[in-house]
Amino acid sequence: MRKKVLIDCDVGVDDALALILAFHSPELEVKAITGVNGNVPLDTVFINIQKMLSLIQPACKPLIARGADQPLKGEAIHAHSVHGQDGLGGAKIQCKDGETWWLSYPRHASELILKMAHQYPNEITLIAVGPLTNLALALKQDPAGMKKLKELAIMGGSVRTRGNVTPYAEFNIFSDPLAAQIVFESGLPITLVPLDVTHQVFLTPDWMEERVKPIGNAFSQFVIEATGYDTEAHWFKNRDAIFLHDPLAVAAVIEPKLVKTEKLPLQVETKEGKYYGKITEFKDGPKIEVGLGVDAERFLEIFLSRLV
Ligand code: BDR
Ligand code: CA
Repeated sequence: MRKKVLIDCDVGVDDALALILAFHSPELEVKAITGVNGNVPLDTVFINIQKMLSLIQPACKPLIARGADQPLKGEAIHAHSVHGQDGLGGAKIQCKDGETWWLSYPRHASELILKMAHQYPNEITLIAVGPLTNLALALKQDPAGMKKLKELAIMGGSVRTRGNVTPYAEFNIFSDPLAAQIVFESGLPITLVPLDVTHQVFLTPDWMEERVKPIGNAFSQFVIEATGYDTEAHWFKNRDAIFLHDPLAVAAVIEPKLVKTEKLPLQVETKEGKYYGKITEFKDGPKIEVGLGVDAERFLEIFLSRLV
């Protein structure tokens, strides 16, 4: 039985790789994709969802919907320095005029999440790889409806390790801590995939040379361009390695044993200041399955095998 999934994302280079992984995995059936402000503004996120679907050309067109263009509280932040101005590292994707590989859902992403939950009770796995604003809005609208989701896999947070936006906070949680706290407190079955594990999975120049380049198809070419890999100089133009944060959240759904979890009581800092967006272990906080270990080699095997 294929798992029915909905992916909420802020595409983003690693979100784009997560979409390729999800659509190329026979274990999953991607029913819908929702966009949220995050790595890039919502308009760009939505264009990127469509670009990625044009590249992937899925056999079954997913529903897509636009979501929140700002966090529940505070200013929208972006990560152009990591993902490029277009959010896809400048990678070129050919889109044929008039060809669409999606079904547009004309209402808000939070409504699409709820529609899927009601239509397929206890069947939908929601994979959230951006700020949690759309999920929090859906919870505010219809908490009972959200209980019809089977499970959630969330890329976000740094629990026992440093953050990547501040020393204490990770991007997705820092972007909308209030939304994260609402989602954590919802009582929904959550597996959190934080930096503690995503920093263990990355592409290196060696992997690019030995495993990505030889594939020689449109997907390997996309990985090369989006990650800024210089095939002449054999290095990434902007950094030493590329973390596969969002693909790991997808892989944790494909193969649940891949990520080793511990149930921890967590709290999100929602007050402005030094610790804004920090996740702490707090004895009275809601208990969440937190990924703390990963079979990185196995993950890379899965990831690379699905580029073909
Ligand atoms: C997360 O933030 C974004 O930059 C990535 O897409 C990922 O979801 C990592 O902190
Ligand atoms: Ca993301």
